[in-house]
This record gives sequence, C-alpha cells and structure tokens, in this order.
Amino acid sequence: MMMKRKGIHKPTIEDAIEISGIETLHPGGFDLTRRTAEVAELKPGMRVLDVSSGRGTQAIFYAENYGVQVTGIDISEKMIQSATDSAQRSGNTDRVSFRLGDSRALPFSDNSFDAVINECAVGIPDDSQQVLNEMVRVVKPRGTVVIHESIWKKRISDMEKEELSERYGTTPLELEEWNHMLQKAGVVNITSEHEEWSKPERVVTLKRILQKHGISGVTKVMENEKVFFKAVMDGKIGYGLYRGVKGDIHGNR
Ligand SMILES: C[S@@+](CC[C@H](N)C(=O)[O-])C[C@H]1O[C@@H](n2cnc3c(N)ncnc32)[C@H](O)[C@@H]1O
Repeated sequence: MMMKRKGIHKPTIEDAIEISGIETLHPGGFDLTRRTAEVAELKPGMRVLDVSSGRGTQAIFYAENYGVQVTGIDISEKMIQSATDSAQRSGNTDRVSFRLGDSRALPFSDNSFDAVINECAVGIPDDSQQVLNEMVRVVKPRGTVVIHESIWKKRISDMEKEELSERYGTTPLELEEWNHMLQKAGVVNITSEHEEWSKPERVVTLKRILQKHGISGVTKVMENEKVFFKAVMDGKIGYGLYRGVKGDIHGNR
C-alpha cells in the first residue's frame, strides 16, 4: 500500500462524506447495496456482520428486506450512535444491533456469522489485508464474504495514484489486487463485477465543512473534489463488487 503524506489534502473527500450527514456513504448508493445483498444471497434467519456499518442504513436495509439478523460494527462512536438511533426509529432493534469496534481486530469469535459484508471500507485502514483476514476469521466455513471497493480502471502512474488517494482519503487498488488479497485471506470461488462511477453525487455539505474546518477546509475539499471527480469522469476510478466463500483448510468450497 502506498505511503500517505498525511494532512496535505485534509479534509479529504472521505472526511467530507462522513460529516455530510448523507445516509449511504459509498459510491453506487442504494443500488449497489441492493446488489451487495443479492450477491451475498441473504436469506431469512442468517446471521450477518456488517463491518464498518456507518450510519447503519445498509444493516437496517438487509434486515428489513431479507429477514436477516444483523450486527454492525464501526470505529466511530458518532456512527454507532446514529445507527442505533436509526434502528430504534425504524423499530428494528430486535433484529439489528450496533457496537463499537475496529475492523482490524473484530470483537467476535471465529466462525460466528453466515455472511460478512464490508461496503466500501476495507481500504480505509492502512492494513486492508488485516481487515479481510478478520472478516474471514469470523465467518463460518463456507460462509459468504462480500466487499465492494474503489478500483483503478485505467493504468495510471504511481504518482497520480498517490495524489488521488490522498485527495479521496482511501486507496483504490487494481481489480485483481483486491482479488489476490481476498484469496490470501482464505476466500475461494471469488466472483467480481465492476462498475463505472459515472455520476458522482455532490456529497459535501459545505456548511458543515465550514463549521468544522473553516474556510480553508472548504477550499481544500472543493479542490479535492475537482481533481478527484475529473479522474472519475476520465474513467480512471470505479468500484468492484466481490463475492466469495470461506474455504476449508484445504482451500475448497
Ligand atoms: C465510507 S464509510 C462506509 C460506511 C458504510 N459501510 C456505508 O457504505 O455507508 C467508512 C466507514 O468506516 C468506518 N471506519 C473507518 N475505519 C474503521 C476501522 N478501523 N474499523 C471499523 N470501522 C472503521 C468509518 O467510521 C465509516 O463509518
């Protein structure tokens, strides 16, 4: 993973998304969440872990639409509070719960869940391989692992990758790199699909950025957006959706 020159492009697009108040904190919006649930083959009664569950929107969606029992985990107290409030408001506390935790050290025993999902947050901690290893550790043998993540869709220089990653606040990888990392973590029978990130929504609530980071923060975010979304429009960045199962000790399904 690339070295990050921390602070130079702060606040990043990722920072701005997190304080914007929007519900679905990933490109692809709800359509991608629906597709994620489909490829995870969620069925009533399954125990599902949503890693880095954000505002809880996806966890609640899975529970309401597929009859699954969902645990969400996130490192941010604010996100956990917001997700818990949503579960209460929507009357889902019997089937969805949220707890504070780090995706690099999941607070669950081995083989606890039928499916483990991570929507757009494997690439946020520096050690993405560790996040995948942990997801695989806590899913049952032959249980489902699904992630979606930002990918480079065109060959570009390492310098441009570094620049765009810093402005974004997370590091996209090549489609195949995520594949290899999943395999290394013990996932087999991997399938993937990838999409253009063709219509980026304007995700920044400038008033909140102003309150938190001042006028220089607003300028920085607008500059980050301009450069980053140009790269999106140029077809350099998209996202991949990956699905596989935890192999047995011999790597078979
Ligand atoms: C891009 S948002 C995605 C949230 C949600 N999955 C969604 O798609 O709306 C990234 C989330 O990852 C969380 N996060 C960042 N680092 C984390 C870590 N080490 N462990 C758990 N969650 C983390 C952030 O708090 C944030 O809620």
